[in-house]
Amino acid sequence: MPEATETKEIPEKKKVIFSAIQPSGTFTLGNYIGALRNWVKLQNDYNCIFAVADLHAITVRQDPQKFRQNIYEAYALLLACGIDPQKSMFFIQSHVHTHAELAWILNCYTQFGELSRMTQFKDKSQKHADNVNAGLFTYPSLMAADILLYQADLVPVGIDQKQHLELSRNIAERFNGIYGNTFTVPEPYIAEVGAKVCSLQEPTKKMSKSDENVNSWIAMLDSPDVIMKKFKRAVTDSEAVVRVGEGKDGINNLIGIMSAVTGKTADEITAEFEGKGYGDFKTAVGECVVEMLRPIQKRFGDYIKNKDYLAEQYRNGAAFAEKLSRRTLDKAMKKIGFVAK
Ligand code: TRP
Repeated sequence: MPEATETKEIPEKKKVIFSAIQPSGTFTLGNYIGALRNWVKLQNDYNCIFAVADLHAITVRQDPQKFRQNIYEAYALLLACGIDPQKSMFFIQSHVHTHAELAWILNCYTQFGELSRMTQFKDKSQKHADNVNAGLFTYPSLMAADILLYQADLVPVGIDQKQHLELSRNIAERFNGIYGNTFTVPEPYIAEVGAKVCSLQEPTKKMSKSDENVNSWIAMLDSPDVIMKKFKRAVTDSEAVVRVGEGKDGINNLIGIMSAVTGKTADEITAEFEGKGYGDFKTAVGECVVEMLRPIQKRFGDYIKNKDYLAEQYRNGAAFAEKLSRRTLDKAMKKIGFVAK
């Protein structure tokens, strides 16, 4: 938390944070610990703008019914995590038309070569070789539009999105260079505790919901039974000592999870489980995760049933976002030379 300096006449304006998450089914424990939980905290110190990035999600084929349900669920789950529409702007990306419009414009200020170098594009076009569409290619300019529309100062992103954020900065700088200052050039926001949660089955890999082995990841909406079962099956090692160490990726990961959930340090956890077996430890890790998720799951259950409440929130969010983002879009269009309406 920033310390107040002694002599400040003008109160500093809160910085703007933008982030978004794709509605690709349920979120994982990794999403929660690594990102969503931090978003909730950031709301107190920043002007936060959060979106469910549904436009980004159609770069891969979506089943219409499932897609719609995933969008509702993503919105409800973020509310349940503590995204507070009273504090932050929180909307569904496709509801705010300025995103697609600015994305088109920014496409014309983004080079083919730059987009070709994006590692995510290279990976995804290999994985979905039958559908290497133009949207998959220009995905980063839509992401740049999301961020630049709100003049965001900071963007909390994981390592997998860093290259895209770097490109957003380049696009902003290029545009500003041609037309004069138009967009704030965003900085990455690095969370203090960047807990990376790894797969429970292959603990050198990041926990991912695209992993075919469902035992390797915890969904935020998994039942307590399922969560306990997955932790009991988690891969460990043969040393049978709960401590952080080389070649102990499984235990290191479980200690990391317990530490992120309870706030205890790795040393405290090691001391607590001295002389105890991995079975006890895995049960304890599972239990603390279950207890952390319990109230979120309860709130999610309430929100998802209440479609009217959800609609009120996302409509309100979109109305605010449209008004704010319109200013930037108008400014950019005027600079380019479009005729005002
Ligand atoms: N592309 C991001 C992801 O898949 C989601 C996203 C969309 C985003 N727009 C954004 C993240 C803007 C940060 C800022 O995770």
